Amino acid sequence: MGATIIDGKAFAAKVRAQVADHVARLKLEHGITPGLAVVLVGEDPASEVYVRSKGKQTVEVGMASFEHKLPALTTEAHLLALIARLNADPEVHGILVQLPLPSHLNSDLVINAIDPAKDVDGFHISNVGLLGTGQKSMVPCTPLGCLMMLRDHLGSLSGLNAVVVGRSNIVGKPMAQLLLGDSCTVTIAHSRTKDLAAVCRGADILVAAVGRPEMITGDYVKPGAVVIDVGINRIERDGKTKLVGDVEFASAAAVAGAITPVPGGVGPMTIACLLANTLTACCRAKGLAEPQGLTA
Ligand code: GUN
Repeated sequence: MGATIIDGKAFAAKVRAQVADHVARLKLEHGITPGLAVVLVGEDPASEVYVRSKGKQTVEVGMASFEHKLPALTTEAHLLALIARLNADPEVHGILVQLPLPSHLNSDLVINAIDPAKDVDGFHISNVGLLGTGQKSMVPCTPLGCLMMLRDHLGSLSGLNAVVVGRSNIVGKPMAQLLLGDSCTVTIAHSRTKDLAAVCRGADILVAAVGRPEMITGDYVKPGAVVIDVGINRIERDGKTKLVGDVEFASAAAVAGAITPVPGGVGPMTIACLLANTLTACCRAKGLAEPQGLTA
């Protein structure tokens, strides 16, 4: 195995330290504490774990955390009223509604009710449009984390061939926009792409965000490529539950130049970028200088 392992856990710790440092200065120099509100509807156990982790890390970097847990049967009107209150609350600089929402709630309607300036997920249609037209926006956390790791590892991405496998609104599409913004030649591939392996073998940068455990094997990887594995899949193997990515790690690492592991790769970067986005949203709201290196 020749590939460099890109340590997302260590990188995320560095990002959090940078955020904490900036937050401390905001408090000292301006008396401002950035605040993040997280809204969870229902009792999905995986979502509850994520939300707890977000709240804990928010407090650890010195920001205020506001958690709103609503019952699964919450009405749309009730949820929209909460979002309106959070939009108007001067202590709240970032709002995140944990997805997926229960099926009786219209996610698009709910997300688009968030003030775009507080939309730290970057899912509001205004932020999607701003990113797509190369304007300043809030950028979705997972693709932002991937971009930070790629820039850190490669320096300039200009002119490189990037293949993103997956076309979701949360990862695939914004990832492609960010890579285009850094002057990559970008292909968005997906599970229906013809001869996906050959398309992927053209990639200097291969981002796997397709949601299929270990689908991307070494045969898909160009020698020396940088492989970013966004997948988090729980599988049963040898009678045990195991966390694997969308990339078959051993065979891909034998060919790649660098690769992110699962766990410990992209995953920890997502919450770190959520904290970075909350800080950025706060600085923008107050007309203060934004943190360097923590935005696209
Ligand atoms: N559920 C899984 N990933 C995400 C995310 O990035 N943001 C939100 N709001 N919900 C999610």
